[in-house]
Amino acid sequence: MEKHRILKILLTGASLLTSALIVTRAGLIASVANPRPQNTAPDQEQQDWPAYGGAPENNHYSTLAQINRSNVKHLTVAWSFDTQEEGGLQANPLIIAGVLYGITPTQKVFALDAATGELLWKFDCGIRGTQPDRGLAYWADGNDKRILVGVMNFLYALDTSTGKPIPSFAKDGRIDLRENLGREPASAQSIVLTSPPVVYKDLLIVGGRNPETLPAPPGDIRAFDIRTGKLRWSFHTIAHPGEFGYSTWPRDAWKTGGAANNWAGMTLDPQRGIVYVPTGSAAFDFYGGDRVGDDLFANCLIALNAQTGKRIWHFQGVHHDIWDRDFPSTPALLTVKRNGKEIAAVAQTSKQGFVYLFDRANGNPLFPIKSQKYPPSTVPGEVAARDQPLPVRPAPFARQLLTSDLLTMRTPEAHQWALETFKKFRSEGQFVPFSVGKDTVVFPGFDGGAEWGGPAVDPETGIIYINSNEMAWTGALSPNTGENSPRAIYMSQCSVCHGEKMAGSPPAIPSLVGVSERLAFPQIATTIKNGRGRMPGFPNLTEDQLSALIDFVLSGENKDLPGSAPPPTSMKYRFTGYHRFLDPEGYPAIAPPWGTLNAINLNTGEYVWKIPFGEYPELAAKGLKNTGTENYGGPIVTAGGLLFIGATDFDKKFRAFDKSTGELLWEATLPFSGNATPATYEVNDRQFVVIAAGGGKDPKSPSGGVYVAFALPQVSPTPKASSNSNH
Ligand code: HEC
Repeated sequence: MEKHRILKILLTGASLLTSALIVTRAGLIASVANPRPQNTAPDQEQQDWPAYGGAPENNHYSTLAQINRSNVKHLTVAWSFDTQEEGGLQANPLIIAGVLYGITPTQKVFALDAATGELLWKFDCGIRGTQPDRGLAYWADGNDKRILVGVMNFLYALDTSTGKPIPSFAKDGRIDLRENLGREPASAQSIVLTSPPVVYKDLLIVGGRNPETLPAPPGDIRAFDIRTGKLRWSFHTIAHPGEFGYSTWPRDAWKTGGAANNWAGMTLDPQRGIVYVPTGSAAFDFYGGDRVGDDLFANCLIALNAQTGKRIWHFQGVHHDIWDRDFPSTPALLTVKRNGKEIAAVAQTSKQGFVYLFDRANGNPLFPIKSQKYPPSTVPGEVAARDQPLPVRPAPFARQLLTSDLLTMRTPEAHQWALETFKKFRSEGQFVPFSVGKDTVVFPGFDGGAEWGGPAVDPETGIIYINSNEMAWTGALSPNTGENSPRAIYMSQCSVCHGEKMAGSPPAIPSLVGVSERLAFPQIATTIKNGRGRMPGFPNLTEDQLSALIDFVLSGENKDLPGSAPPPTSMKYRFTGYHRFLDPEGYPAIAPPWGTLNAINLNTGEYVWKIPFGEYPELAAKGLKNTGTENYGGPIVTAGGLLFIGATDFDKKFRAFDKSTGELLWEATLPFSGNATPATYEVNDRQFVVIAAGGGKDPKSPSGGVYVAFALPQVSPTPKASSNSNH
């Protein structure tokens, strides 16, 4: 059945132009009278959600205003689409001309009628995706319309009308991201795409997720030709000989070092042709004795010429990072006022709870940044940076120093336990190097502060909205033996997460004790090779090493390894764990808030509002309300005066706040927690807000994968905000 729609009346200057689009059952969209070759008619962009984060500028903002402060309380479920898979979702879907493109927990890609949730097509590349996949990209030239999406280590170009790979793109419609990194064999490299590429003209610009331990491939930023899939440029985040930054590394780091990768996604200024790339730390995250120096361009916000990959400016947030302080979120572009002048700016949030604001064109900080001295490392070989840059304004959006008066008061027993445990820790704030034998507090924790959901910015006001975690974590270092035994491999590669005794750190990291009751040998082997969830893959292990390692995990037996394969790593120290500081009942051992939502005016650096964000339902039922909780996934902000956000780990709520005051105006309970950034769009004059709900962060709740779209029950078309535009 064919659906015919008169889709839009375009106001171009004084002339009226009618454009009719025909949408077939298969989702083929044929433009009858499209005034522009690409899908860039401004009016249409306002009803679409055409890019990860809403726009190349990653502002998470929509001009739609049909759903507003006064009617949002009437929102109800318009449709939901159950992928019928488990495992959780972190995806921000795209909506283009009435079609929604999304990803399932195992990384099947699909298209839905965005008005009804009806499935149009589904693409299964045959690989079972086991890592988070947070979004897709879209490109069109005339009738050639493509969805660009990562499935593990492949980047696919799919035809939007059929969901089939485009054969002329790279090899059989996909790029293998493990190739062209200067490391051989390509098949032993671990790199997967958790955030989508950005599209600039006919280029796809992409980073990737690399391991946190060595060996790891370098985090090159790469641009591929969108038609052919051919590599057009690479920017080396581990500088090569002769390149700027080379002297900030030991001389061979470009051959042996790894990571300094962009996993959080990037942001594009299409007018200036600049791509803003936040990077993470170099491998190994916690010991840098083999990478003494500042390590450019790890932990940087890098502004690159999108056409050529040439660096325009950069800012390094952490010199010689030994705390895993990756820049965790996409930067957001906005315009701020300074002394009556408008300045095009870029805002970057951090795990420490900082917001940095720069002039987009030249990287000049728009609030002062001071340099602060920190103590040296006591670990042999490690040389911590002497100072680190701290933004003076805005004030951090998370507490910076855990002291004994900030411990939990939830029950007297929990408080007593926390006091005694806390005494054993070193807690001196940011940038205190880890030591051997004593746990150091990391607060805010390894997951921020800010996380991958990224902020929203409102172009009407210059306000940035940031959801933040407030969790204390601890960690310490321990020497590696450096021998080629399964035990040594476990200790150097696995214990960092699963712990020396394999007890893990539930809920985030499972215990491996008794894992054979849950998984068969081949499943364990696949998990180790390909990774799962936050666990990276270890394709570098030889078959012998892998099978001996699994035997060791299952039985504790430390077999001799046949042959003389070198140990997989030369790391001198290992990390003894990503431990959340939780009380014996599993709640944060610190005083609330455990998560917050913040609105900061970036014209002034002042907070507009700040509220605890999220609840534990069982604690709230006992009267312990508004504690805030851990949260993952970002907010969106609309011209209707609203801030929509899911993200909270335990209460499964999807909420709408008044963006000016932080007042809660509406909430609904999702089938699983909505650990993803929502999207809003309009089809047939009806505004929808959709969120991927998959859960997976709460060990007491099952995970799934459902997209839920909300709309107002009765549609009364309202005049649209006139063509002010951030596009
Ligand atoms: C960066 C942290 C990290 C590292 C390093 C890591 N893992 Fe994991 N591992 C995880 C997480 C998180 C999960 C749960 C993934 C999920 O289901 O989302 C997991 C799951 C597993 C599972 C499946 C457990 C189950 O009950 O289903 C096995 C087996 C496993 N890991 C073994 C290993 C081995 C062996 C190594 C070392 C070669 C290793 N891991 C290294 C974090 C890690």
